[in-house]
Amino acid sequence: MSNAKPKDREPRVTAATLARRKRAGERFACLTAYDASFARVLEEAGVEVILVGDSLGMVVQGEETTVPVTLDAMVYHTRAVARACRRALVMADLPFMTYTGPERALASAARLMQEGGAHMVKLEGGVEQAEIVAALGHHGIPVCAHLGLRPQFVHKLGGYRVAGRDAASAEALRADARSLEAAGADLLLLECVPAALAEEITAAVRIPVIGIGSGPGCDGQVLVLYDMLGITPGAPPRFVRDFMAGAESVPAAVAAYVSAVRAGAFPGPEHCF
Ligand code: KIV
Repeated sequence: MSNAKPKDREPRVTAATLARRKRAGERFACLTAYDASFARVLEEAGVEVILVGDSLGMVVQGEETTVPVTLDAMVYHTRAVARACRRALVMADLPFMTYTGPERALASAARLMQEGGAHMVKLEGGVEQAEIVAALGHHGIPVCAHLGLRPQFVHKLGGYRVAGRDAASAEALRADARSLEAAGADLLLLECVPAALAEEITAAVRIPVIGIGSGPGCDGQVLVLYDMLGITPGAPPRFVRDFMAGAESVPAAVAAYVSAVRAGAFPGPEHCF
């Protein structure tokens, strides 16, 4: 069997690629996608990480929250995205209640990787997920741990709020980040964390940190694709910039996002908490 790669193909982005970029101080871009056509646009614009987020419940399926999203739906959309990607790292969300223990998490992640073609899975939670993160890692499954605002907890928390604003919750976030790194997480994702705290956590861990609504101090940035294309109904969250405004096409808007993230020009102070 030959390991030769076609000459015109750039190597696949992996967790190790992102870690190298962190060490080199080079920011990277992540966006969500749920189908092959948009995934191709993102890949051609140079997006390093494509997230098949369970946000698909809201932006594709018209649900109010991410809670109704099933593993079958995630597998279906992940497969569609993965078929289009030659270079980008495809990360897929483990949906609500599909990782209630190590065995269940392993079975769910196996479906996302074997049937869906994902290269990494994402789960929500802090230190309480350390055992699951370690079990996934022991079986060769790269993991991104999603901290801060956790959309799957919306019914428990009673809404979507900035996390880590007071001293106790900031300290809990620091401890979560440390324990997830120690458990073997490959990436952290911080959602709606005050910019100064997100920058501090990013500097404190060796693994790359992706931010959404968490300021420019993270190693990478992510947005929900339909938010940054300005097609999500209603007032956008504070941390979103509409990259379609002034752009000639969807590919041009995505390319502008990638450039702005790499240059540290997005997010600006107006997008931060
Ligand atoms: O599901 C999703 O799109 C996400 C982003 C908000 C990071 O988790």
